[in-house]
Amino acid sequence: MSMALIELDKISFAYAPEEPPVIRELSLAVEAGACLALRGDNGSGKTTLLRILNGLSFPQTGVYRFDGTEINAAWLKKQANAKRFHKRIGYLFQNPDVMLFNASVREEIAFGPRQLGLSEAEIAARVGDCLALFDLEPLADKAPYQLSGGQKKQVALAAVLALNPEVLVLDEPLAGLDRRTKERVLALLTELRGAGKTLIAATHDDGLCAALDAGILRLNAP
Ligand SMILES: Nc1ncnc2c1ncn2[C@@H]1O[C@H](COP(=O)(O)OP(=O)(O)OP(=O)(O)O)[C@@H](O)[C@H]1O
Ligand SMILES: [Mg+2]
Repeated sequence: MSMALIELDKISFAYAPEEPPVIRELSLAVEAGACLALRGDNGSGKTTLLRILNGLSFPQTGVYRFDGTEINAAWLKKQANAKRFHKRIGYLFQNPDVMLFNASVREEIAFGPRQLGLSEAEIAARVGDCLALFDLEPLADKAPYQLSGGQKKQVALAAVLALNPEVLVLDEPLAGLDRRTKERVLALLTELRGAGKTLIAATHDDGLCAALDAGILRLNAP
């Protein structure tokens, strides 16, 4: 029996009991190494679904399984479980302001690898590599809140990649980026896909879906 890495079994999610569910009885299976694009209008539930995949929200009904383990609030409350889970799945928020909280870009990128308990040498190597991905070296000692929107997005993506997770969950990875940077991110994602990473991206960008030859899941507003 082949088991998908990510399995949603008829999940439903509403932000409030009196509101119509944003996600209604959705089932989904994503194999390891697959690439899935979430499409749909503003407000159709893409970000909500990505939050569920990352264990930040929990469906009221249905089951989410990651590598065969049911992901729910009780399971994630155990710190060892949460740590193991978040090591395997990385999340780029739609709004990078939510993610950036360290004093410098360098510290921002070092934060995740440090949480993983890597050696200082390994942390320095990852920080160097990830700064180089987007030529962020000149910004390394700046405070993330002082950067432009597109620069913040690049730093946030570099910080996610520094963790080197098997699954990358990306919310609008190209939004707000200039053309050259978009092309860089696309090249990078193509490389990661080739390296066997599992990619799940919410996007309004047709180019991303085409470049990554992504499967498409279209969500509809409630
Ligand atoms: N924290 C929240 N509390 C209450 N309702 C919310 C919350 N976040 C989102 N919603 C509602 O849930 C629905 C889906 O929102 P979501 O952010 O998942 O959409 P989206 O597909 O990511 O949209 P976009 O393309 O604009 O990013 C919307 O109707 C939104 O108003
Ligand atoms: Mg969204």
